[in-house]
Amino acid sequence: MTMGRSTTRVVCILGLIAILIFLAWRMLRPMNIFVVDDRFALPISEQVPPGLTYLSAEECGGCHEEIYAEWATSMHAHAWRDPYFQVDYRFDGSQQICLNCHTPLRDQQENLVLGFEDSTRFKPVTKPNPNFDPLFRSEGVTCAVCHVRDGQIIGPYERAGDHFHPVRADASMRQGLGPCERCHVVSGKRWDTFLRIPPCGTVAEIEETGAKPDCVGCHMEPVTRPLVKGYPERDGRRHFFPGGHSREMVAKALTVTVKQTVKDDGQRVEVSLTNSGAGHYLPTGTPDRHLTLELTLLGTDARTIRRKVYTMKRTILWRPFIVDLFDTRLPHGSSRVVNFEVTPREMKDASLLDVRVRYHLLDERRRRRIGYAITTPIAYPVYEQRIALRPSP
Ligand code: HEC
Ligand code: HEC
Ligand code: HEC
Ligand code: HEC
Ligand code: HEC
Repeated sequence: MTMGRSTTRVVCILGLIAILIFLAWRMLRPMNIFVVDDRFALPISEQVPPGLTYLSAEECGGCHEEIYAEWATSMHAHAWRDPYFQVDYRFDGSQQICLNCHTPLRDQQENLVLGFEDSTRFKPVTKPNPNFDPLFRSEGVTCAVCHVRDGQIIGPYERAGDHFHPVRADASMRQGLGPCERCHVVSGKRWDTFLRIPPCGTVAEIEETGAKPDCVGCHMEPVTRPLVKGYPERDGRRHFFPGGHSREMVAKALTVTVKQTVKDDGQRVEVSLTNSGAGHYLPTGTPDRHLTLELTLLGTDARTIRRKVYTMKRTILWRPFIVDLFDTRLPHGSSRVVNFEVTPREMKDASLLDVRVRYHLLDERRRRRIGYAITTPIAYPVYEQRIALRPSP
């Protein structure tokens, strides 16, 4: 009997130690927060189409001037030079896998990927790439990433420009997920992630709902113009790819309505927020992105009486397991109402309610933690309104 009990005790203690070691490992191990999908496991290896000398945007821009100028201002063109990416990339140990979306073409990368050391494909076997071109790397998500397949240019038309470079018409360029899916709609199903956390967030929610929204339709504004100076006008699209860095784009996603009701001697202000313009969550993308609704009660002397902040954000527990704790973002088409009650006592010297919605590219704590020194603001207002609480004299 005693023997049995002490054996049980030893087994329990060993079990407990094993669990503690396992948890300690989970707390310390390098954290691979996503699944390496076939779609982006390797760099893109493409031949230069006949008629062209190189795959660089610079080359395409020689003829497609306007499209080049638009693309050059987009975050795609900055996917490597972006200072936030640079800091985060080094902070995460400069992993090769990041490059397959941020500088995806083979000769944009210093090393060739020969295979993988492990089944998770986070440890590539590499050797130096003799054709590596740092200028080409600085082009980030360059034209050829979306437009070159099997040594041909893919485009939305019936092979316009075939005599300059071989063109293959591809209907998927016209609408839907198009070429965006490779990097932006990525699965993260794995035993130790309880919800899907794809790299950089991307538009994860699309995979979840199975929806196939028109990324091209919303992120590439329609325009009729020649593709190359001197050629006929065609129905095409602009290449700005606006997102979280564009105030107009974010403002387009959000409808704000304010309802004011007088209640006894106090007042209630109802602010309703609707995701009326984004085909996915608002905000979407990396979990850094968030929105705040800031309600500030101001006195007759413009002094702040009280402040209420409501945050729309995805909150994730990273260790020991990746779990989506809270998600207060707005799904496509949905609304949320936030109330602000001004008490009769506050009404004595309250004069205005300042209603402000701000978009944050990342939060201050994370900025400091990774040592990202930035001079431009990391947040900007997308809606501002002052509500008078008493009739003007
Ligand atoms: C020497 C000039 C030249 C260069 C360089 C060039 N193009 Fe073109 N491209 C053209 C012309 C001309 C057309 C057809 C214009 C028309 O008929 O409206 C065209 C058409 C296209 C089309 C539309 C094809 C379709 O039918 O849908 C795409 C896409 C395209 N080019 C992409 C590229 C990319 C990407 C590069 C760089 C890798 C590139 N082009 C480099 C001249 C050029
Ligand atoms: C090869 C991978 C890749 C493909 C394909 C791709 N993207 Fe991106 N995209 C990126 C990366 C990487 C960034 C982030 C760059 C950065 O901010 O450092 C990005 C950023 C963006 C942004 C955010 C801009 C911002 O303001 O922060 C939008 C919007 C976007 N892409 C839309 C699209 C659309 C629409 C398509 C399809 C037509 C597409 N992307 C195809 C990799 C890709
Ligand atoms: C992130 C993916 C992506 C990148 C990067 C990109 N394009 Fe496009 N491009 C598209 C899509 C999608 C279309 C189809 C738009 C449509 O339906 O007309 C397109 C259309 C075109 C067309 C046909 C005309 C038109 O407006 O539809 C040309 C020409 C073209 N792109 C050239 C370029 C050049 C040159 C670059 C680089 C300076 C570039 N693209 C970068 C995705 C991309
Ligand atoms: C109905 C229009 C609409 C559709 C469809 C749509 N988007 Fe968006 N997207 C927006 C608007 C508006 C924003 C800005 C607000 C936000 O971040 O949600 C945005 C933001 C983004 C961002 C910025 C995230 C960041 O971190 O800055 C990315 C990336 C993006 N969309 C990618 C996509 C992709 C990929 C698809 C297709 C699967 C898609 N979008 C479909 C309207 C749309
Ligand atoms: C599967 C493709 C993919 C991989 C792999 C990937 N990214 Fe990204 N990354 C994106 C896309 C798409 C965006 C833009 C949408 C968004 O904001 O989430 C982005 C955005 C970012 C941003 C935000 C930049 C900004 O505009 O504010 C940072 C930082 C970043 N990535 C860092 C990394 C690092 C570091 C790695 C490697 C550990 C990595 N990424 C791997 C696709 C990828």
